[in-house]
Amino acid sequence: MENNTYVPSPSRYDNMGYRRCGKSGVLLPEISLGFWHNFGEHHDEARGLDILHYAFDHGICHFDLANNYGPPNGAAEERFGRYMKCSMHTHRDEMFIATKAGHPMWAGPYGDWGSRKSLVASLDQSLRRMNLDYVDIYYTHRHDPNTPLEETMQALVDIVRSGKALYVGLSKYPEEVARKAYAYLEAHDVHCILYQGRYNMLTRQPEEVIIPQAHQNGTGFIAFSPLAQGLLTDRYLQGIPEGSRMTQSNFLRPEALTNELIGRLRSLNEVAIRRGQTLAEMALAWLLRDERVTSVIIGASSVEQLQKNLHARENIAFTAEELAEIDAILA
Ligand SMILES: NC(=O)c1ccc[n+]([C@@H]2O[C@H](COP(=O)([O-])OP(=O)(O)OC[C@H]3O[C@@H](n4cnc5c(N)ncnc54)[C@H](OP(=O)(O)O)[C@@H]3O)[C@@H](O)[C@H]2O)c1
Repeated sequence: MENNTYVPSPSRYDNMGYRRCGKSGVLLPEISLGFWHNFGEHHDEARGLDILHYAFDHGICHFDLANNYGPPNGAAEERFGRYMKCSMHTHRDEMFIATKAGHPMWAGPYGDWGSRKSLVASLDQSLRRMNLDYVDIYYTHRHDPNTPLEETMQALVDIVRSGKALYVGLSKYPEEVARKAYAYLEAHDVHCILYQGRYNMLTRQPEEVIIPQAHQNGTGFIAFSPLAQGLLTDRYLQGIPEGSRMTQSNFLRPEALTNELIGRLRSLNEVAIRRGQTLAEMALAWLLRDERVTSVIIGASSVEQLQKNLHARENIAFTAEELAEIDAILA
């Protein structure tokens, strides 16, 4: 793949907001791009590059990957590596690139969970696939209850010391383990700059403890699946359309789309229309209204989706009445 002609927009930073990641020196764009879906082997490679270029042209400089994103495992990182080689490598210092390890990746006892062996080997693989010398942030993708937390955290500390990751983060850690993990890292002079958790209008648990806890620790919070994988868009208001994630991925099952949920989505859509937004825009704005949310990581299967979703930032203020109405719909 060749794209030596790509010249990023000179105005790319003009219309994006950047938020400080906890008490770190890092600023992240309010909207980040994820590579979980849409960048697997069966997805069009050129379309993926268009999405990446469009994102970068509009101030999205944070890209979220993981060792197992595909399918198959590793495919999204390989593709990202080709994108780096073909047109993005000259902009490496403008990019904040994340990867993770902790879900099943390769066969045998070392290709999963949170041992030192697994985290170190996986990062080496990820760097090779992505054509990178280092990642900006390396996450433990999930807590491993069978590995001593100290081993997982010390591996992160040593990875930072090795220069293969500049920062580290936690993904989906339960609150009690997150507390210990933050403390271990801090005691070893590696501040945990980011907690990544599922947070959207339909999944609000992080509001209770995880976000306040991260905030108190000086750790940023980044929301994944902010559109509930597409449910919080106009995609499913009239049923399940052909080509949607619900028809293609095991991670979003048709059973999830109950009549009750469709009813709530339609009510939310009415609030969005009154605000002059699409449901997707309102769902993202609703997350970004909280300053403790550093960024939202969206997925996009087309440039058009990304283009539309970027409008969310134009109105992230909600009246008390709107918030109460939304709470009532979601109750
Ligand atoms: N740490 C973790 O364990 C974890 C877990 C999950 C995700 N993540 C990260 O979070 C990222 C985002 O997750 P996600 O993809 O679930 O995010 P999402 O933003 O909730 O869902 C994205 C999907 O919604 C649909 N969509 C987006 N905008 C739309 C629009 N304007 N109109 C209609 N449909 C629209 C598209 O699906 P279709 O067009 O295909 O229907 C798109 O692929 C991932 O890529 C990954 O980086 C992390």
